Amino acid sequence: MSEIGYLNGKFSRLEDIRLHPEDRGFLFGDGVYEVIRTYGGKPAFWADHYTRLSRSAGEIEIALPFGRETFHDILVSGIRQCALSEVKIYIQITRGVAPRDHVFPSPCEPTVFMSFKEIGKLPSSIQDAGISVVTVPDIRWGRCDIKSLNLLPNVLAKQRAKEGGVFEAIFIRENMVMEGATSNLFMVQDDTVCTPLINHQVLAGVTQQHVMQLIRHLGKKMDSRPITLQELLASDEVFLTGTTIEILPVVVIDGCQIGEGRPGLMTQKLQRKFVSLVGGERL
Ligand code: PDD
Repeated sequence: MSEIGYLNGKFSRLEDIRLHPEDRGFLFGDGVYEVIRTYGGKPAFWADHYTRLSRSAGEIEIALPFGRETFHDILVSGIRQCALSEVKIYIQITRGVAPRDHVFPSPCEPTVFMSFKEIGKLPSSIQDAGISVVTVPDIRWGRCDIKSLNLLPNVLAKQRAKEGGVFEAIFIRENMVMEGATSNLFMVQDDTVCTPLINHQVLAGVTQQHVMQLIRHLGKKMDSRPITLQELLASDEVFLTGTTIEILPVVVIDGCQIGEGRPGLMTQKLQRKFVSLVGGERL
């Protein structure tokens, strides 16, 4: 077997999954999601992902159809059935199927969809040399703390990055740095590591939380505070975090070199610590 899908209680080949055309996820983007990956065949940081999934669902008034343990059993079963070496798992919960009407249908059974796919390794050249990014205006709604299916601004931002020949786009709101289109951002300045204020304007990343803990364990100063674009450009080091990218050094922003134009010492140290945290092999 390879790519597996799960829909409302049933596993099948991913391409055999059939969604209802009146699913509110399809019609309105009325739902939430998570992206998880395995290390050593086990879903990493599942408790954190579940907490965020259940919070996101709660914020848009969707009741999750089952709890953490049942979700975990489904994940384990999917991982076993797909028999891939390391798996990227996408979980999507929508409000369910109903004739198109903006108002919540009642009653409505949430749709639970998951896909299990091989997670490709990022080329180690990218991890070692660092990446370039561009900045884009943050045109997202006011609840970016909810991992909602409505990703049009993120899609457009990522497309701008691709067209600019760079890896990621960083959202800027009124001159303040927010996060990447699919990642959180950190900067290092004078031995202090900073990440933008974690509030309703950004997604609290699972990887971000673990990296913040690693920084504290290293005895380094860690601050979550407002960061201006000028501060970011003048910083010593910048890096991104995310489930699929882990820790990625940023060496160029909008064509301006950051620090010495190569991954800094703090970033490299955190990359090594992160790999040992998740039991990976790289570095
Ligand atoms: N995105 N910020 C945004 C806007 C994101 O979409 C993501 C992840 C992150 C990083 O969060 P985490 O460390 O929990 O993966 C931050 C996923 C991977 C996606 O949409 O594909």
